[in-house]
Amino acid sequence: MNDGLPFQDGEQVLLTDQRGKRHLIFLRKSETFHSDRGWVPHDAVIGQPEGTWVRSSMGLRYLALRPTLAEYVLEMPRGAQVIYPKDLAMILFWADIYPGCRVLEAGTGSGALTLALLRAVGPEGRVITYEQRDEFARRALANIHMRLGEVANLAVRLRPVEDGLGEEEPVDRVLLDLPEPWKLTSLVAAALRPGGIFLCYVPTIVQSHQIAEALQREPHWALVETFETLYRPWNIEGQSVRPFHRMVAHTGFITVARRVVPEESGAPDARLRRLAPEDGER
Ligand SMILES: C[S@@+](CC[C@H](N)C(=O)[O-])C[C@H]1O[C@@H](n2cnc3c(N)ncnc32)[C@H](O)[C@@H]1O
Repeated sequence: MNDGLPFQDGEQVLLTDQRGKRHLIFLRKSETFHSDRGWVPHDAVIGQPEGTWVRSSMGLRYLALRPTLAEYVLEMPRGAQVIYPKDLAMILFWADIYPGCRVLEAGTGSGALTLALLRAVGPEGRVITYEQRDEFARRALANIHMRLGEVANLAVRLRPVEDGLGEEEPVDRVLLDLPEPWKLTSLVAAALRPGGIFLCYVPTIVQSHQIAEALQREPHWALVETFETLYRPWNIEGQSVRPFHRMVAHTGFITVARRVVPEESGAPDARLRRLAPEDGER
């Protein structure tokens, strides 16, 4: 990261045109960026401070900024569908990812969640990510290296997570973004230290139902909670103060549970569930 420095040859920049269209490019001395509305020489950006405006040969204005992680995730090449920033933000806090945390994740997909995890755990932490498809693992690694360069605290396991979970040292967090997480709850419990957090992300409520039921059946889980995140941006321009006409109405459901020590005589319904305050009052 070159935070605070002028743009350098070889680094990434996000050019956003006055219509809001975004272009993620690598700056290269003497090269030219071409769009449907003219061209911009990279040299017009290199050496300028972040937040500079440049004009294309046809007069279109572009704002040059280093991409945030959220912008990068939306613009980077995809193999599998990525988790959107609105959900990444919730996942990091609800799974309580902290600097130094040891996290196991599957599947890697395009690497969006992996990138968010790597930043949150920091150099003292560790991310182990499982991906069963070679082409997705390659795509994810390319995306990760493009953003972070070489990373020392990432291990990519190219195999189904169910084949490797039993061999892992205990971790602090397990995060799954794959189709049938309810089949893996016992294996996850064995890989997760007591007090650890399990989080999974699935696109349908039928899958959420299955995962919640599996977690509620097993004695080493408590505080099982399922939710979704609705993000509704607003247009605020003069008298036009209203929600955007279009929004991403649905992405996925998040289920979180704590790994606990099973109670010897614990009947499943005696285990704690997390209740919203108003539910608790009923
Ligand atoms: C929706 S994508 C994950 C996207 C990723 N979370 C991201 O933000 O970029 C699901 C990935 O899980 C992988 N996958 C599915 N089942 C798996 C398994 N049992 N073990 C490892 N990877 C698996 C798929 O190949 C796919 O790449």
